[in-house]
Amino acid sequence: MEIKLKKTDAISGVIEVPADKSITHRAIMLSSLAEGNSVVRNYLPSDDCNRTIEAFRQMGAEIKIDNGKLYIKGAGLSLAKPQVGKYNIYAGNSGTTTRLLSGILAGQNFETVITGDDSLSKRPMQRIIDPLLKMGAEIKSTNGLLPLIINGKRPLKSINYESDKSTAQVKSAVLFAGLYADGVTTYSEPVRSRDHSERMLKAFGADIKVNGNSVAIYPAKKLNAQDMTIPGDISSAAFFIAAALIVPSSNLTIKNVGINPTRDGLIEVLKQMGADITLSNIREVSQEAICDIVVKYSKLKAINIDASLVPRMIDEIPVFVLIATQAQGITKISGAKELKIKETDRIEAVASQFKKLGAQVEALEDGFMINGNNEVSLTGTLLDSFEDHRIAMTLAIASLIASGETIIKDSHCVNISFPGFYRVLKNICK
Ligand code: S3P
Repeated sequence: MEIKLKKTDAISGVIEVPADKSITHRAIMLSSLAEGNSVVRNYLPSDDCNRTIEAFRQMGAEIKIDNGKLYIKGAGLSLAKPQVGKYNIYAGNSGTTTRLLSGILAGQNFETVITGDDSLSKRPMQRIIDPLLKMGAEIKSTNGLLPLIINGKRPLKSINYESDKSTAQVKSAVLFAGLYADGVTTYSEPVRSRDHSERMLKAFGADIKVNGNSVAIYPAKKLNAQDMTIPGDISSAAFFIAAALIVPSSNLTIKNVGINPTRDGLIEVLKQMGADITLSNIREVSQEAICDIVVKYSKLKAINIDASLVPRMIDEIPVFVLIATQAQGITKISGAKELKIKETDRIEAVASQFKKLGAQVEALEDGFMINGNNEVSLTGTLLDSFEDHRIAMTLAIASLIASGETIIKDSHCVNISFPGFYRVLKNICK
């Protein structure tokens, strides 16, 4: 499905964005592994999170949806062998479902097969296979790609794993597997990746200790059901933060957004660039910092971003490139090679589509060089989302400052993380 969008005069209003995708996946997983009845308030009802719900329903968790909340009766740490679809779990487009679930399946007493869509079937799984094999699970895959055939073992062997990448999906897979190990499992990474798993495991009663970029987890006998509320997703808010910053005369408030310190790199960088962004009503909800964000149109200056910051804003980089096209000077992003193996090659996708819009964006092996001198003006045209939700939303925000009409192919893919995205966008365009 194509969508046609036009330039707007200003962005204004008070909005909320849907719940955090990363936290929703983890809430479904840990509630399903707990004993007792959990409530997940304000969960994200998106395609990716629905894949996680379906997987755990197949393995014995009772998950009811009522009035925007999930009511989950956990199956306990020992799940039931899935009985649907020849023991297959279908993860759709969701890397988070696949990788985190693999850690849990590594500790079960049965064999499972995980499959996914075309995009997920091209994404690297060796990064989770390596540590889980070390822990004693049997995993079969061809070239480190889906389908994954996981034959769980219990107990798993505890390991001390030093990752050469900062990835919360691998970290979480190892920590979840650590619940089923025979001793303390440790995991360390170069720069701290998002820590939602650590926070939530603790809340569910797991014995987990964080020390800088290292985490230690002890085997668990059981997890205890929780009642939790999920914050708005900063990665979804990022698109509207960008819109308000680059469309003249804009003034937008986004309420109840999660600002976990491992996720707030975009805000830090934008403030350094001169953005008029105010965080108010800062509080903690279910172990996560949340706030209201007020953003106004701003004259920005270019900046350099490197590997020390990238993990804190990895999913926001596509829309950050758009912002950088409107910032005075040359912005360089490095240390972001991981973008090449997201839902699509996001370096290639962003560079090729921005070129069509007339922006000066050069793809690098591990990032971008963006020339924002003279606040390059964009021209609307036919663009490809590559069926990647974050590329589609980035291009939709670019259309707000592009002359003429912008047409985006496969625009429906926004439902992966942000159902209702185009409706919210329409409401704030004046
Ligand atoms: C996620 C971790 C990140 C992120 C993804 C969600 C998670 O991936 O890009 O959208 O929920 O743990 P990596 O772990 O591959 O960096």
